[in-house]
Amino acid sequence: MTRRVPAGERGAIDEAARILGAGGLVAFPTETVYGLGADATNGAAIAKLYAAKGRPAFNPLIAHVRDIAAARALARFDAAAEKLGQSFWPGPLTLVLPKVAACPVADLATAGLDTIAVRVPSHDIAHALIAALGRPVVAPSANQSGHVSPTTADHVFADLAGRIDLVLDGGPAPVGVESTIVACLDEAVTLLRPGGVPRESIERALGRAVNAAPQPGQRNDDEAMLAPGMLASQPGEALLAFGPDLPPGAPQAARVLNLSARRDVVEAAANLFSHLRALDRSGAHAIAVMPIPHEGLGEAINDRLARAAAPRE
Ligand code: TXA
Ligand code: MG
Repeated sequence: MTRRVPAGERGAIDEAARILGAGGLVAFPTETVYGLGADATNGAAIAKLYAAKGRPAFNPLIAHVRDIAAARALARFDAAAEKLGQSFWPGPLTLVLPKVAACPVADLATAGLDTIAVRVPSHDIAHALIAALGRPVVAPSANQSGHVSPTTADHVFADLAGRIDLVLDGGPAPVGVESTIVACLDEAVTLLRPGGVPRESIERALGRAVNAAPQPGQRNDDEAMLAPGMLASQPGEALLAFGPDLPPGAPQAARVLNLSARRDVVEAAANLFSHLRALDRSGAHAIAVMPIPHEGLGEAINDRLARAAAPRE
């Protein structure tokens, strides 16, 4: 029931926009991860989206728009938000801002909050789809709730086949981790989620430090247990490696995948979720993870690893 179309195929974007306009669900690539899109103004479509993901309805969604002017129709920008939007859009940054009174996004998408998360993606296909629909597109990561985010059309298919109308296949998502989420509310700037724009870049653009992200929450369901910073020494463990030098236990590991043999955190981010999915499928009871430097995209990588390793509720 779920169709899969190469995004570059003639008519693919128009067909995807037509499905969205009719209240359907379309997964599409962005520069960060694949998103599961719905027309942001259509409450019924958004209800279907929550059902398809198995996501708790109180978790609000990001509205994706074509440019900063379209974002201003949804949200109020203070000076810091203006600066961040000008500096990093289009790109892997999401701003949480006060919702304007005339905001056309359905209340279900913002879970009844008086704030809204907005983002201008830089991926050509995402941009073309939003432009073709002519309305904001809400899009959570296109995974089943509790799974890691998808960075390929195969990942989306594995999680959502039969539950959505269309997957636009645009190849691997280049950044590999979700957008950085920054709230600009009541004069305060707070990093809510580290992601594709490094904290250092945000602080440089603003000329000041931003408030800390809250501690990562509970572990996602259905992921093998992770042990960040530990060595693979137990038989049956898989190893998520980083850098050229593997620990002594590596030959005993059930499976070894390297995020970046040349110690490049950008390459590591791009590989993170597909390596986690592959090690999860290997049948290992646990995944040991080598230490990853907490710089640049390393902060987002360590955040996702910590979430995956946190105790279950
Ligand atoms: O890179 C990304 O951001 C991807 C691509 C598809 O754009 N999207 C994504 O969406 O990661 P999602 O739904 O998986 O994560 C969005 C996060 C959620 O944790 C949600 O709670 C938070 O954004 N969020 C949304 N609206 C918010 C708001 N008004 N205040 C605080 N957090 C909000
Ligand atoms: Mg997600």
